[in-house]
Amino acid sequence: MPKDSINPTKTSSWKKLQNHFNDIKEIPINNFFASDHNRAKKLSISLKNFFFDFSKHNINEETISLFVDLLNEIDLKKSIKSYFAGDKINLSENRAVLHTALRTKKKEIIIDGNNIVSDIKKVENQINSLTKKIINGSYRGFSGDKITDIVNIGIGGSDLGPAMVIDSLKHYRNHLNFHFINNVDGDYLHGILENIRPETTMFVIVSKSFNTVETLTNATTIRNWFLQFTSDESIGKHFIGSTSNVKKAKDFGLSDEKIFPFWDWVGGRFSLWSSAGISINIAIGPENYQNLLDGANYMDEHFKNEEFSKNIPVIAACLTVWYNNFFDYRSHAIIPYSEYLKNFPRFLQQLSMESNGKQTDKSGKFLNYSTAPIIWGDTGTNAQHSFFQLLHQGKKIVPIDFIGFKESKKGDKKHQDILIANMFAQSKALMTGNVNKSKNNHKSFRGNRPSTTILIKHLNPFTLGSLISIYENKIFTLGVIWNILSFDQFGVELGKKVYSEIMKNIESGRIDDNDSSTILLLKKYLS
Ligand code: F6P
Repeated sequence: MPKDSINPTKTSSWKKLQNHFNDIKEIPINNFFASDHNRAKKLSISLKNFFFDFSKHNINEETISLFVDLLNEIDLKKSIKSYFAGDKINLSENRAVLHTALRTKKKEIIIDGNNIVSDIKKVENQINSLTKKIINGSYRGFSGDKITDIVNIGIGGSDLGPAMVIDSLKHYRNHLNFHFINNVDGDYLHGILENIRPETTMFVIVSKSFNTVETLTNATTIRNWFLQFTSDESIGKHFIGSTSNVKKAKDFGLSDEKIFPFWDWVGGRFSLWSSAGISINIAIGPENYQNLLDGANYMDEHFKNEEFSKNIPVIAACLTVWYNNFFDYRSHAIIPYSEYLKNFPRFLQQLSMESNGKQTDKSGKFLNYSTAPIIWGDTGTNAQHSFFQLLHQGKKIVPIDFIGFKESKKGDKKHQDILIANMFAQSKALMTGNVNKSKNNHKSFRGNRPSTTILIKHLNPFTLGSLISIYENKIFTLGVIWNILSFDQFGVELGKKVYSEIMKNIESGRIDDNDSSTILLLKKYLS
């Protein structure tokens, strides 16, 4: 059993939290506000571009101080230190977890006797030099034409991060068009091929393993399509790879100087900061990409150095434990009030649920307490006109993160005022309700529904980097509290194995070695 394996529910701080929970669980959030006019000041954190308001929660100052005791008892400080130092905290795969190194300002981080910061810089410089040529048009395709379109081929972390960032930073993008091929859906693939020209398109294959069926199938279909227009030699000009399996990328036909490695200490869902973010780099240019990294580093430093009671990722993690393990609320909604962040909830789904959707502790023992909640969400105000009914009056209580921006980049002030007034109105209405005001139950709102509001100065590469880092470090903290391994993902493997058996059934027509439902489905499909 790992030395630092501690069942949190067996600690004395957890027991104190349990007693405290029993004392305050019935107190409506409204009452906390009524009895303390300084509550919002006390339960909020203000940083350069960020205001993190966690006052609209079923907590008081004692809750935070008891959580701080828990974090001290399980020695979160020590875990943070070994995470940033590159200790092999991914125990099941015997790997370090160092996506934070990809945005570090340090000159040296030694892993297995090697300074990985120089490796990172080397790859970064290679990518930057290619990126600049593509953007300024000096890079030419097989026909001598400039590149106009980039197609990112990847799935999971090799798609969600780059797609989310490129969408979010729409107003920082250059003239190039971007397309994302993630799913193995052939209709979708052809829909994209119909709209691009091979001679002006760069295909970016992102796959840490270079072994993912969807990505390899899509890449192969695209390569065959491409070769209808030109010869093999042009592949080197139009296909880039980002992978930690350089050999397989070469076997696919990529040329050495177009394969950008990333390392086993970067998890797929944490990889947008590595060469897996090459599409982002091309979309917004190296300078903006550096700002994205700097923003993440700024929040990493806050996480590393700030005391727990004023530490945004740490407080965010404690709130999740509070609702998930004490109140037994099962899901958590992410509602950004920016249409450009529409992919942010999807991105966080993988980041959070693939990391912390676990059933065993670090030593492999089955847990008897709950881990990651279900993450979901959509943009406000759109979501207000769809599922907010349930958030206000449904029988399930869903803690929410509202994310909004003080200033818009291009839109006029009126629009931003309406957008943000809506966000503030929702968090207020969800908390206050109207219980004493309505005699008609259909129209009654019981309130007491918790939310955090993250108000950010504006949406730019730096603040987006910081925002992502908040959630990455929150997820790390949750893994430490829950005593689980956040950086493997064995839960995706069984489906892959069964898929290959079913695929053999489809190819051979021999289907009998299945349950009757699967046999009937296969019959219907094959007939
Ligand atoms: O199947 C899950 C997963 O391994 C994710 O963890 C990963 O982000 C995604 O598939 C893609 O993997 P790869 O980058 O190796 O193609």
